[in-house]
Formats: sequence, C-alpha cells, structure tokens
Amino acid sequence: MSIGLVFCAVFAVTASRISHAGLEHFSPEERARILQHGPWPPHVAREASNRVSSSLPAARFGEQLFFDRRLSVNGSISCASCHVPEFDFTDRRPTAAGLADTDRNTLSLTNARLNRWFGWAGATDSLWAASLRPMTDAREMGSAERHVTEVVRTQPDLACAYRRTFGAAPSATDDDHVLSDVGKALAAFQSRLVSGRTPFDAFRDALARGDRRAQARYPDAAQRGLKLFVGRAQCNLCHLGPQFTNGEFDKVGISVRRPDGRIDWGRFDGIKAQQASRFSLTGRFNDDPARSRGVSSRHVALTGENYGQFRVPGLRNVARTAPYMHDGSVPTLTDVVRHYSTIDALKLHLAMPHAHGDPGGDLPPRPAESVLRALDLTERDIADLVAFLHTLNDARPRASMGGHKPASCVRRGALSELGVQSMPDRS
Ligand code: HEC
Ligand code: HEC
Repeated sequence: MSIGLVFCAVFAVTASRISHAGLEHFSPEERARILQHGPWPPHVAREASNRVSSSLPAARFGEQLFFDRRLSVNGSISCASCHVPEFDFTDRRPTAAGLADTDRNTLSLTNARLNRWFGWAGATDSLWAASLRPMTDAREMGSAERHVTEVVRTQPDLACAYRRTFGAAPSATDDDHVLSDVGKALAAFQSRLVSGRTPFDAFRDALARGDRRAQARYPDAAQRGLKLFVGRAQCNLCHLGPQFTNGEFDKVGISVRRPDGRIDWGRFDGIKAQQASRFSLTGRFNDDPARSRGVSSRHVALTGENYGQFRVPGLRNVARTAPYMHDGSVPTLTDVVRHYSTIDALKLHLAMPHAHGDPGGDLPPRPAESVLRALDLTERDIADLVAFLHTLNDARPRASMGGHKPASCVRRGALSELGVQSMPDRS
C-alpha cells in the first residue's frame, strides 16, 4: 500500500468525525482517485530518443523554426499559424486550415512532451517525429522534404543555429538526418511548454496533507464536479493521472464521417502510419542506444478495435481550447458533458466498424462493449462537472508573442515571455 493510501485511510477516519462547512465528503476510494491526478508539475523521464531534448540552444533554434514561414512551400505558413501561442497553441477553429482545410482539430502543444503517442491517431511515436509531419502534409505546410533541408542549409541564420545546436553544419547529402534534427530542435522548444499549477492542484495537495482550511477554498461546485468525475460519471477510467489521460485511444461516440463523406479511421490508420515511418522510434534516428521505447512501438498490434479510436486528450487548460474532439464538432465544455450524459451505448457499440463498411480486408470482429453509459446527469451535475473542468486552468498569464523576425543566429527568444517553465528531468 502506498504512503498516499495509508494516509487516506487514516484521514478518512478523522474526516468522518469532523464535519467541515464547505467541504464535500470524499470516501477513501475517491480520495485515492483524486490524489493520482497529481502531483503537478510531474517528474518526467529524460527524452532519450532526442539527444538535444534538454539543450537550451536547441530550444532557441526550435523556437526560431516554430515561427519561420520559410519552412512552408510558399513562405506563407509556420507552425504558429495553427498553434497560436496566445490561444494555448491551438487556433480556435473546429478543424485546422493551412494551405487547405484539414479534417482534424489542432491539438494544443502544452504538455505535449508527456504523451506516448502523438496526434489524435498516434501516427507518430515521438515529439520530434510529430513535429516533422505537418511540414510535408499538402494541406498544412506543403513542403517537399528537400525544401525543408535546403532552407536549413542555405539560410545563414538557420544554418548558424543548426551548427550551434548540433556542433556541425547540416549534412550536404543526408536529408533524413537533417530533417530529424530539425524535428528534434522543434521538440526541444515544445518540451518546455508546461502548464502551471491550478486550483485543482492546490485542492489535491491540501487533501494529501489533510489541510481542511485550504481544501475549503476550492469552490463547492468544483468539489461536487470532482466527486462526479472520479465517481458516478467514471470520467477517470480514461482521463486519469496528472495529465488527465491514460495516453491510450478510445471512442466516445463522435462521428468518424468527415464532411466530404469519407471516414476518418483514427487509430487504425495511425498505427499503420507510425509503423511505416522512417522516423519512428524503431528506426535509425532514435538517439537512445537502449531503444527502450522503440521496442514497445514495434509491438503495437493492429486490431479491429482500432477503427475509429482517437487519443484520450489530457484535460489541463481544456477550458481554453474549444472547440472539442478530434473533429472539433463539439463547441463547448457544457456540450461535451451533455454528450456524455446522453450517449447512446448501444449505438456506440454497433457503430463500429460494420455500419461504415469495410475499409479493406476481412471484417474485423465487433469491438468489445464500451464502458460508457448514458449518465443521465441533472442540469446541476452538468454545471458542476464544467465548474470542475474550469479548475484545471492554470493561472499563468497568456503568452503574447510576435515580432519573430528570423534575422540573427540564436537570438534571445521569447521562451521566458511565454511563462515557460522547465519540466524537471529525471535521468
Ligand atoms: C495547418 C495547421 C497546422 C500547422 C501549420 C502545424 N500543425 Fe501541428 N497540428 C495540427 C493538427 C490539426 C494536429 C492534430 C493532427 C492529427 O491528429 O493528425 C497537430 C498536431 C501536432 C502535434 C501533436 C501534439 C500531440 O499532443 O500529440 C505536434 C507536436 C505538432 N502538431 C507540432 C507542430 C509543429 C512543430 C509544426 C510546424 C513545423 C506544426 N505542428 C504545424 C495543425 C497544424
Ligand atoms: C472510455 C474512455 C473515456 C471516458 C470514460 C471519458 N472520456 Fe472524455 N474523451 C475520451 C476520448 C477518446 C476523447 C476524444 C474523442 C474524439 O475526439 O473522438 C475524449 C474527449 C474529451 C474531451 C474533449 C477534450 C478536447 O481537447 O477536445 C473532454 C472535455 C472530455 N473528454 C471530458 C470527459 C468527461 C467530463 C468525462 C466523464 C463524464 C469523460 N470525458 C469520460 C475518452 C473518454
């Protein structure tokens, strides 16, 4: 039994004797479930697949690349066109638009480093590989790989920053090597985008210490919403841990049909893309000699269950990143909770995959039953869950950035302005 659980058990006995105004009663099981959503910020393992993950010159180079439109085919789009710093690195659109419209909602990059799989379908298995994908997607930045590597080789400011970061000029012949390094610098920048402490974290830590006065500062509605979240509504079956996600893929009854009538097969296509990629952790650009994470990437098996699954999103700062879901089809958090309240479990079970036809090959077995059931929440329950979700917002002032002229080599950038904190590395 962990120290936390022992503590909870002792605390529960005390709590049952003292009643305290403004405090929900949480059972020992509920307390244990609440405690596992912290502490924050978390300790994370060193990102061994990227040798420059914690390097400051790499982060500055990555920041420079992030705002650089020259990486797109016609000089019109940068990463920041969709991942807008002022909007928590999203674009407030249902689905992203670069050179053309895409099918998916822009994911925030805050806390992206903590993911195991990247993108809604997990089409990449590292932050650096996920950073390469948009450059060559025709609807996003539309560049040929050779365009990206030539820009880095020939533009003096970028070539200089590359040398400072990697200790040598970009290879004149090995495009893949230069490309993977560009991804790794971009990842070093994004690794530093960590959300700050929230009212929920203050409550959770007060609960852990048994500080009832501090607990009572947490709004009543949020306490009731939290109790539903870890209790009757069972949200934490999937949204668990400090980042409020199990990091895996599931389906919650959002349509997989795109506006043009085609189907977004989600995780099914994601696994195929990840396994086919030269930039997967199983390939030669993984800098980790032990290849520990590469081994687990290789062992992901494609099954019928994967049709129409999407990644369980983390929920920190979620109130700031509307609209929601992989296709941005749900406008507000109240609508999200209403969706879970009225979900049709039978339809969810039958919807996949037969109703949409066979994407190729034999029909896979019908997926196992979902854990989701219509929750039949009252209006107050819905408001309470939404109030709780709002307490997952951090207090840090929103970033304001701009004026990113890529004029000089490795300037002091706006890393500090972003309110960026570094996530402690545990080697
Ligand atoms: C046209 C808009 C657009 C542009 C430009 C763009 N992105 Fe994205 N980004 C998205 C969308 C949409 C997703 C979700 C993609 C998916 O699930 O297939 C995403 C996902 C990501 C992810 C995965 C995050 C996670 O939590 O899994 C990373 C990392 C990322 N982008 C980094 C970048 C970088 C770096 C650039 C610039 C080189 C960039 N993006 C350019 C729209 C964009
Ligand atoms: C079976 C696992 C599961 C359960 C249980 C679950 N979720 Fe989700 N949640 C997901 C998945 C998967 C998605 C993304 C679905 C998609 O895009 O198609 C999601 C999306 C969300 C989003 C949108 C986030 C974003 O950035 O777009 C919110 C908010 C959310 N869930 C809150 C909740 C709440 C509140 C509950 C409890 C009432 C809950 N979830 C229960 C798996 C789950």
